[in-house]
Amino acid sequence: MNSRQAENECFVYITLPGETEFVTAGKFLLTTDRRGIPTGRFVYGQSYLERGNAAAIDPLELKLGNRTYETNLLKGVFGALRDASPDYWGRRVIEKRSGRTQPGEIEYLLYSPDDRAGALGFGLNREPPAPRRKFNQTIELERLQAFADAIIADEEIPDDADAEQAQDLMFGGTSMGGARPKAVVEDSNSLWIAKFNRPDDKWNDARVEHAMLMLARECGLQTSESKVITIGERDVVMVKRFDREHTKAGYRRGRMLSALTLLHTDDDPQRRANWSYVSLVEEVRRVSSQPRLDAPELFRRMCFNALISNIDDHPRNHAMVAMDTDWKLSPAYDLTPSTPISVEHRDLALECGDMGRFANADNLLSQCERFYLKPDDAENTINQMEEYVKNNWYSVARREGVTEKDCEKISTAFAYPGFSLAT
Ligand SMILES: Nc1ncnc2c1ncn2[C@@H]1O[C@H](COP(=O)(O)OP(=O)(O)OP(=O)(O)O)[C@@H](O)[C@H]1O
Ligand SMILES: [Mg+2]
Repeated sequence: MNSRQAENECFVYITLPGETEFVTAGKFLLTTDRRGIPTGRFVYGQSYLERGNAAAIDPLELKLGNRTYETNLLKGVFGALRDASPDYWGRRVIEKRSGRTQPGEIEYLLYSPDDRAGALGFGLNREPPAPRRKFNQTIELERLQAFADAIIADEEIPDDADAEQAQDLMFGGTSMGGARPKAVVEDSNSLWIAKFNRPDDKWNDARVEHAMLMLARECGLQTSESKVITIGERDVVMVKRFDREHTKAGYRRGRMLSALTLLHTDDDPQRRANWSYVSLVEEVRRVSSQPRLDAPELFRRMCFNALISNIDDHPRNHAMVAMDTDWKLSPAYDLTPSTPISVEHRDLALECGDMGRFANADNLLSQCERFYLKPDDAENTINQMEEYVKNNWYSVARREGVTEKDCEKISTAFAYPGFSLAT
């Protein structure tokens, strides 16, 4: 393979259901025409298709089959591949480490380590690499946190052996998406995403995020398991990965698709019109092996987000996962309250009913039947959740270690007046 090709194409590996090692699934090629328009192409390998247990990378867009798939969306990177690619935070670490300001999309895939979300891996060799056995441990969190601080402050990374080791550590986790500083660590035979606080945070995000996951669980949502660890004086929220399962042979990996991919859309502001819970539930119903459970669950998440003013509920903060052959809605993650000034009108990131993105009970109810809920049942769900959030957010937050001062700061997030405003 010559170097020009190397920049334009790569092999895509996958860990199949029940297995812990990669096999080669196919090849991805990215080209840009003279006008600068990128086209991505993907083909499954013949030997992959011949496997009895071959699994589709994306059950909607990249079904198993002997054809060349093409896309111009997402800079030519198929949604399922983009979901396995680093985001704002990981890209920053990779740029810092490689000293390059703008690596190409394929380079981001290739430079990031294989602890990325989902079951995919990428490389230049037809044969996949051996699985990684060693992960960052919780004991290394202090150094990881210091390194994250240096990246946020845009400080020079010292050029000595110690710093190089820290960079190697930090590199683990860069392929996870999201904007907040994070690393992947192993703890008690599980993999966790460690999310660090930033010095410029308005409140202790780690504690608040953990408290929101607890509150959501008490409201009947399926949530990711989480805990807070204190390193020095600072808190780190650890969120257990739902796309990994420890076995004696290594980690099994679940395939994962973000709602961005399920909605066939991207971050481009012009395509935000496609960001919609109502459309998302249609896709979830198509893909899920348990649509009667997942559709109402998505309804509850939409309501919970409205009730805690989580306006950062963008489509990368929802996903479906297949730990085996069946796809399901993933547990909820990244639940964060916000405190906009308006007490009458707040918008979620996704459309949630006939009145667009308005985080309002009547709006949420307007399309409830698409979530497999009868209007009476949907109304009961909303009323119960509203009462629960109103009466318990404070005690849950305090119980999980959110300070009195931070509770005051986030207090206007919960069951804001516009939620129950008659429309
Ligand atoms: N428990 C989990 N198990 C597996 N993957 C997860 C889990 N939580 C998050 N992810 C994946 O990692 C990505 C980043 O995580 P998260 O959304 O918590 O980070 P963030 O930096 O707060 O994001 P944002 O940019 O939305 O603020 C998610 O988009 C999702 O793909
Ligand atoms: Mg997120």
